[in-house]
Amino acid sequence: MNGKGKIRWGIIGLGNIAHQFAKDLSLVEDAELAAVASRNAEKSQEFATQHNCQKSYSSYEAIINDPEIDILYIATPHSSHATLTINALQNNKHVLCEKPIALNYNDALQMIEASKANNKFFMEAFWTRFNPSFREAYSKIKNGEIGHVTYINADFAFYTENLEGEGNRKTDMNLGGGSLLDIGVYPLFLCYVVLGIPTEILAKSNFHKTGADLQTSMILQYENAQAILHSSFVSTYNVKATISGTKGKINLNTPWHQAQSCTLTVDNQEEEILLPTKGKGFTYEIEECHQCLYENRIESSIWSHQNSLDLIKIVDQVRNQIGLEYPS
Ligand SMILES: NC(=O)c1ccc[n+]([C@@H]2O[C@H](COP(=O)([O-])OP(=O)(O)OC[C@H]3O[C@@H](n4cnc5c(N)ncnc54)[C@H](OP(=O)(O)O)[C@@H]3O)[C@@H](O)[C@H]2O)c1
Repeated sequence: MNGKGKIRWGIIGLGNIAHQFAKDLSLVEDAELAAVASRNAEKSQEFATQHNCQKSYSSYEAIINDPEIDILYIATPHSSHATLTINALQNNKHVLCEKPIALNYNDALQMIEASKANNKFFMEAFWTRFNPSFREAYSKIKNGEIGHVTYINADFAFYTENLEGEGNRKTDMNLGGGSLLDIGVYPLFLCYVVLGIPTEILAKSNFHKTGADLQTSMILQYENAQAILHSSFVSTYNVKATISGTKGKINLNTPWHQAQSCTLTVDNQEEEILLPTKGKGFTYEIEECHQCLYENRIESSIWSHQNSLDLIKIVDQVRNQIGLEYPS
């Protein structure tokens, strides 16, 4: 912590999501953006100026070695999540790492073992788990307001203009390209939180020439429920989620992974519950990190190590079904 009792954050990888995260970090009272790191000095300096940050580094190693950072937010492509997280944890840093936690279960397990071995907090940045509309919907489901959940339908699909070129995070297999790992993890996350681990998964994909999945459709089978899920870079769709039960249904309104409201329908009566987020909504996962650090915990009880491991195991199963393998 700094002299004013603020938790000192560092950001690694200064792309799209890092900018959005930095904006939300400024809305959290006890957070300070203490340093940022890019592979490019100029880019790092520009980002630091834009977000009122004192220190900018031109290497990831330098920020990982800075003793004046409490927690690092890792915002690089998926393929580097494991190495950077483990390196940071071994260098006395707590870590919040973007989703997906890693390319596969084994890498994720090593990250979690590093958190335990070094007694440092670690969480996958599954921000939807902390979204107020999601939490409200989940609480209503748990309270039985829609009866027993028997069906989930969720998609995450948007048309992406530029999918070509080496180094394109969406399609480059060396960076963990493909819709499943980038956005398909959200509908899988929803099913996992509401229904648990499926007994069976069926999945099919269409692929880019690099081998990355462009669109993936999944059926998840549970003992008393089913889910139909879809992820895609090649179509524009609802980005909506419906959880349906024996008494009613609840919609997480579009775009559901960052919902600003949910709609409960019971006995043909519709109730819209408005829960706008503070900032874009990263504030809630940041506050959860702070709470865990204040309580000297190395994992969140809301999105735990085991939750991340279960989710990536489900993702691995889908990957096996569609035949998607990464070079690493
Ligand atoms: N939570 C969410 O809503 C959300 C949304 C979007 C993405 N994400 C996740 O956040 C991560 C980053 O996504 P993004 O959309 O921010 O990607 P992005 O705009 O491409 O930025 C990624 C950054 O990672 C760094 N990087 C390190 N090695 C790289 C390499 N070999 N090729 C390209 N960039 C490299 C670069 O930063 P420097 O040049 O500064 O080193 C780059 O700007 C992904 O894992 C993604 O799944 C989460």
